[in-house]
Amino acid sequence: MVVGASRLDGKVAIVTGGASGIGAAAARLFASSGATVVIADVQDELGSAVAASAAGCRYVHCDVTDEAQVEAAVAGVVAEHGRLDVMVSNAGVLLPTGSVVDMDLAQLDRVMAVNFRGAAACVKHAARAMVDRGAGGGAIVCTASVASLQGGFGPASYTASKHALLGLVRAAAGELGPHGVRVNCVSPSGVATPMSCNLMGVGPHQLEAMTVPHNVLRGKVLRAEDVAEAVLFLASDQAAFISGHNLVVDGATTAVNPAVLHSIGL
Ligand SMILES: NC(=O)c1ccc[n+]([C@@H]2O[C@H](COP(=O)([O-])OP(=O)(O)OC[C@H]3O[C@@H](n4cnc5c(N)ncnc54)[C@H](O)[C@@H]3O)[C@@H](O)[C@H]2O)c1
Repeated sequence: MVVGASRLDGKVAIVTGGASGIGAAAARLFASSGATVVIADVQDELGSAVAASAAGCRYVHCDVTDEAQVEAAVAGVVAEHGRLDVMVSNAGVLLPTGSVVDMDLAQLDRVMAVNFRGAAACVKHAARAMVDRGAGGGAIVCTASVASLQGGFGPASYTASKHALLGLVRAAAGELGPHGVRVNCVSPSGVATPMSCNLMGVGPHQLEAMTVPHNVLRGKVLRAEDVAEAVLFLASDQAAFISGHNLVVDGATTAVNPAVLHSIGL
């Protein structure tokens, strides 16, 4: 069994949204696990700084809402390294689109453009590169959310985008399986990253303090690094027969009904 630093030895990976939060944690973990990592993001300064902090990591500007930029990022990696083994489609936004009765449809378009259409472009171009390799296969991991499974974890626009993403992952797993390409997603609950902190208007410590009392795993806090471990597992050969899966990383939040737990004194 491959452990520790060598879990992604020799693999070439792209991490979209790798300049911050969960993507940055995944990029660092991948690099320390032996992968060559290309961070693809729109925050150039931050992305370059994350890349500079990890050996084997570099940054490329790539707005996932522009298919040509996604295509160019994938082509650049294949031209330089000869292949793409792993695509982590993680870039996402969470915008305050209002309640459904007064939803801002322009903002809804923006959420779908990044969270769903952007991910579709990443899956499409990564899949092309992986299928072209023949027997080499590859792994695609998308960052969905507990909002891919239930309503109530964010605005309807966000929930809809993540439900759509889960559908894309399942459909792509079916189509790409015959080519040896695995497609999965991770679905975290709340993590204190710039995305969630900005929406709530609080800092990371404050956000964590607000969520801890509601966690089923009492006293525990979900961090970006915990999610990165799940992403790494799905990207690695340890998950060789896992495809079409939605790996929930939520400390049982979506497995139990907290109101019932509470009502019976647990
Ligand atoms: N933080 C949470 O509570 C939480 C929970 C579940 C799922 N997620 C998902 O995790 C993923 C990462 O979010 P995060 O919490 O780390 O937030 P974050 O804001 O720290 O990181 C998101 C990254 O995506 C990048 N990005 C946004 N639009 C982009 C675009 N058009 N092209 C390229 N990059 C773009 C941002 O620049 C940023 O670096 C998202 O898909 C989000 O929906 C987050």
